[in-house]
Amino acid sequence: PTNHFRVDGSSSLWRVDCRAKGGSPGFKVAIFGAAGGIGQPLALLMKMNPLVSVLHLYDVVNTPGVTADISHMDTGAVVRGFLGQQQLEDALTGMDLVIIPAGVPRKPGMTRDDLFNINAGIVKTLCEGIAKCCPKAIVNLISNPVNSTVPIAAEVFKKAGTYDPRRLLGVTMLDVVRANTFVAEVLGLDPREVNVPVVGGHAGVTILPLLSQVKPPCSFTQEETEYLTSRIQNGGTEVVEAKAGAGSATLSMAYAAVKFADASLRGLRGDAGVIECAFVSSQVTELPFFASRVRLGRNGVEEIYPLGPLNEYERVGLEKAKKELAGSIDKGVAFIRK
Ligand code: NAI
Repeated sequence: PTNHFRVDGSSSLWRVDCRAKGGSPGFKVAIFGAAGGIGQPLALLMKMNPLVSVLHLYDVVNTPGVTADISHMDTGAVVRGFLGQQQLEDALTGMDLVIIPAGVPRKPGMTRDDLFNINAGIVKTLCEGIAKCCPKAIVNLISNPVNSTVPIAAEVFKKAGTYDPRRLLGVTMLDVVRANTFVAEVLGLDPREVNVPVVGGHAGVTILPLLSQVKPPCSFTQEETEYLTSRIQNGGTEVVEAKAGAGSATLSMAYAAVKFADASLRGLRGDAGVIECAFVSSQVTELPFFASRVRLGRNGVEEIYPLGPLNEYERVGLEKAKKELAGSIDKGVAFIRK
């Protein structure tokens, strides 16, 4: 009989929850959209992360099943599940890091902007909850279109009087992960040894890999540059088409999300030299938001690095990226201000 098992992953038979009670070192992390294609493998990987002491899984469907399943893993984090709007506030209260992959993904033929109408409202609701229940939490926003959902989140937080631009990060890590992989293939290197800065935003031409700044230092022919730039910009569409209607990148995205969340937590812990690319409030260009390399620390984004020297191909790409980004940012801002 399992009737003493509760939806929140606890049991009435436990004497004490020694882990939660003992104040084991680690952070409290919530995943919103935890039952989804990204959310499930993301929950699995966060349950394995030694920096996590408490893991809250929230969705509007299916969280009891996902929570029961994940909670059986014999790793340190205590897992609790939350289902639906009535449990939103409990899911958020006390969280250090909130990761948001909630919302609909693309189908073949769709752009990320086609998701705006549904996902904008979801992100708004969740961010209103964050402003109320955990205004100091670091937010890793994955829901697309990231180029618009980050400005939406910022506007919600401004309205609530809780906005701290350092704590709001749009997750563009998958573009970096793809860039590292594709560049490593061309160079014949191990992808773990390759680091490609990807700046701009997270959609089509706004995804701007800086191939002139790849580490280890290397050079590309014009043909290689065009192939790599195009493949990195269209990596998401490659997956959407291969999945043929069954969604977009979920497994590589969960991997990228965990890589980024882990960096956010190491920053929170006070580790030095935690540097990743993210879409953040920025003065690197004239746009109010831009993705570039940032240093993560105890308050989230502690430092934003300039783009560095660009070659002619990248300068042209930057102009195209900024033009499209400006429209996407305005659209997000207008959604809240209207
Ligand atoms: P999915 O449809 O498999 O899962 C989304 C989950 O969100 C579902 O379980 C759904 O019930 C849940 N959800 C819906 N409304 C909600 C609400 N109000 N509160 C909490 N949860 C809610 O979609 P998938 O594949 O996991 O993608 C999620 C999002 O991530 C999409 O917007 C997608 O475009 C985006 N994405 C972003 C990437 C990035 O690089 N930033 C890469 C890949 C996807």
